[in-house]
Amino acid sequence: MLAARDGNALEELARQIGERGATALVQPTDVTDESQCRTLITRTIERFKRLDYLVLNAGLSMWVRFDQVTDLNIFRRLMDVNYIGVVNCIHPALPYLKGVCGTIVTISSAQALIGISKHTGYSATKHALRGFLEALEVEMGDQIRFLTVMPGWVSGTKLRANALRADGTPLGTSKPRHTHEAVSLEECSTRIVRAMQEGASAVYIPRKIRAIPWLKLLVPGWLRAKIKRSMAQQEK
Ligand SMILES: NC(=O)c1ccc[n+]([C@@H]2O[C@H](COP(=O)([O-])OP(=O)(O)OC[C@H]3O[C@@H](n4cnc5c(N)ncnc54)[C@H](OP(=O)(O)O)[C@@H]3O)[C@@H](O)[C@H]2O)c1
Repeated sequence: MLAARDGNALEELARQIGERGATALVQPTDVTDESQCRTLITRTIERFKRLDYLVLNAGLSMWVRFDQVTDLNIFRRLMDVNYIGVVNCIHPALPYLKGVCGTIVTISSAQALIGISKHTGYSATKHALRGFLEALEVEMGDQIRFLTVMPGWVSGTKLRANALRADGTPLGTSKPRHTHEAVSLEECSTRIVRAMQEGASAVYIPRKIRAIPWLKLLVPGWLRAKIKRSMAQQEK
């Protein structure tokens, strides 16, 4: 089952999946709406009878310093999509996932491990997500599997163009641009699928993201300076 706010955008993908011999259905879903998320899970079970993987990918970002924000509603919108959206989807899915020892795959971010400038609200949502998933795993870890994906910068997606500016409107296609540090969408997707097949509990893309908690502990000043340089390069 494929879900996005605009179902039409996924019809072509569903068609391509169909050509490869599998069945894919599209269910338009706004993850900020609890009842739409319940319907998504109900329709999935009606059609496929079981739920093995729940992949939580919906996300919204920002690119503005906190002291320049003019519309604080940005923070609520980010939390609604990136955090509440996940809660809304997982809750109705739990009974079905438990029944087959299914897997919750959450597309988190390196920003669940470290806050980054111009992303105060986004970093906060990914930290919230991490706390929620850690606690849920303590409660359900013997009945459900968890895979948390922690990408750094990924190019080739709409995240940056849709990122919110000071007044809550999307950044569009202007600067900032990705640098050579960004991982391609293809590489990112391939690593996620491989991690699902291997039954991994976490995947860091690129692998160096895994070192962030240690670097925070051992060389916090160096790490902060490195991230600052990366941000400056993207804004050149
Ligand atoms: N790109 C990166 O550098 C990067 C790095 C780390 C983590 N991530 C995470 O990766 C995930 C995917 O992002 P992406 O880079 O692929 O960006 P993207 O191309 O903008 O994809 C985001 C997806 O979220 C959907 N979405 C947004 N609001 C929604 C809502 N209210 N209900 C349902 N769907 C909604 C969008 O669908 P619509 O067409 O309906 O808008 C879109 O398909 C996000 O969770 C993001 O935080 C991305």
